[in-house]
Amino acid sequence: MEATDLWPLSAGRSAQGGLAIAGHDLEALADTYGTPTYVFDEATIRDTCRRYRTALAAGAPGASRVHYAGKAWLTTGLARLIADEGLGLDVVSAGEFAVARRAGIDPAAMHLHGNATPTDELQLVLAAGIGQIVVDSLDTLEHLARLSAGRARPQPIALRVTPEIVTETHQHIQTGHASAKFGLPLAALDRAARVLNAADGMVPTALHAHLGSQIFSTSPFTAAIDVLLACAVRLRDEHRIIIEELNIGGGLGVPTTGGQAALSIEGYAAALGTALRDGCRRHGLAPLRLVIEPGRSIIARAGVALYRVIASKPLPADSDAARYLHLDGGMGDNIRPALYGAQYHAVLVAQPDAPADEVVHLAGRYCESGDVLIHRIPLPRAAIGDVVALASAGAYTLSMASNYNWVPRPPALLLRREGIQVLQRRETIDDMLAREALLASME
Ligand SMILES: Cc1ncc(COP(=O)(O)O)c(C=O)c1O
Repeated sequence: MEATDLWPLSAGRSAQGGLAIAGHDLEALADTYGTPTYVFDEATIRDTCRRYRTALAAGAPGASRVHYAGKAWLTTGLARLIADEGLGLDVVSAGEFAVARRAGIDPAAMHLHGNATPTDELQLVLAAGIGQIVVDSLDTLEHLARLSAGRARPQPIALRVTPEIVTETHQHIQTGHASAKFGLPLAALDRAARVLNAADGMVPTALHAHLGSQIFSTSPFTAAIDVLLACAVRLRDEHRIIIEELNIGGGLGVPTTGGQAALSIEGYAAALGTALRDGCRRHGLAPLRLVIEPGRSIIARAGVALYRVIASKPLPADSDAARYLHLDGGMGDNIRPALYGAQYHAVLVAQPDAPADEVVHLAGRYCESGDVLIHRIPLPRAAIGDVVALASAGAYTLSMASNYNWVPRPPALLLRREGIQVLQRRETIDDMLAREALLASME
């Protein structure tokens, strides 16, 4: 099997030569739990969290912190695991906040993000004492000033700015350029400072920027640190606002197909730490705390999606693939290929090391022509009923899952050597029907 960095750390072979994770034969799991099913390797998640914490502590010593971006994927079990590893959590909605609360996470260890957070959700987290609200616009800042007025303990606020940095990634996952929908324009910083200085219920402690996702070089991150430091200086010199923390968002890229050169977590953290230290010195600022919010790079590689081949369709000789293999999942559980052309790698679970016989398209089951999980992948000749494993499938898949075509969403299993925990059971049609009402008589 090529591209070993795409698979979880505990990936190996079963006694029969099939793909196994944490010693669990994936073919057997597909038989027991059905398909599609997502499996997550606990060892990979824990190892990645530890590497992030250790690397950040070395690169940016002090009270620097790693917050997991829950949007990448969140369940109560995962939230608990992440907290056990000493990470904080970023949430973007009352729903994510509720999941984290149910997992026993202290609101003080959470940040709330959002470019359009409804008032009731802001009130909820304010009342609960969330650690920080990351504010995306002047409108929200002014609204929060009203909502927080008179608070005995002022609410810590981070200002998310648009750093005007363009990243080399798909435009749907770029967020740092001037025309992005996220963040306060740099030109609005002075107005934001005036709102903050006039507010008695909130206190600005941090500046934030998130550049986008799947970034494979350190230079956009260090450039963003420079922009944020310049903002911190402006706030200090012109508004007497002292910033204690820079939050540089998430975005570290992970390979999803073979041959992509990923940045190491250690190299990334060291580069951020150096840029921050040098920048603070240059600007005469006291050393600032560094916060990062990785999502994808913590959960993508840990997750593997299992599908079964249901049918196939041969293609004309002049096509770019021999045939379609139709799988029993697709855009309902993984919208990313259809949404922004995300690419993946896959193998046949029973013969992950066998040479390829043909190039196929792996098509999803949903009623959209765009529902193709992988275009043109070389695979051994697959038979109906074979199980296909999609690598690096843990991030922004189940968290974006839908009930398109009224298909229930798949289960998620956490695999460890000692056993299996169902983090989320398979959804049922009854679950979906539970929110339905029959048409009432209009008479
Ligand atoms: C504000 C913010 N922080 C962190 C992240 C996580 O990014 P990634 O999953 O690429 O690490 C995102 C992703 O969209 C984000 O919007």
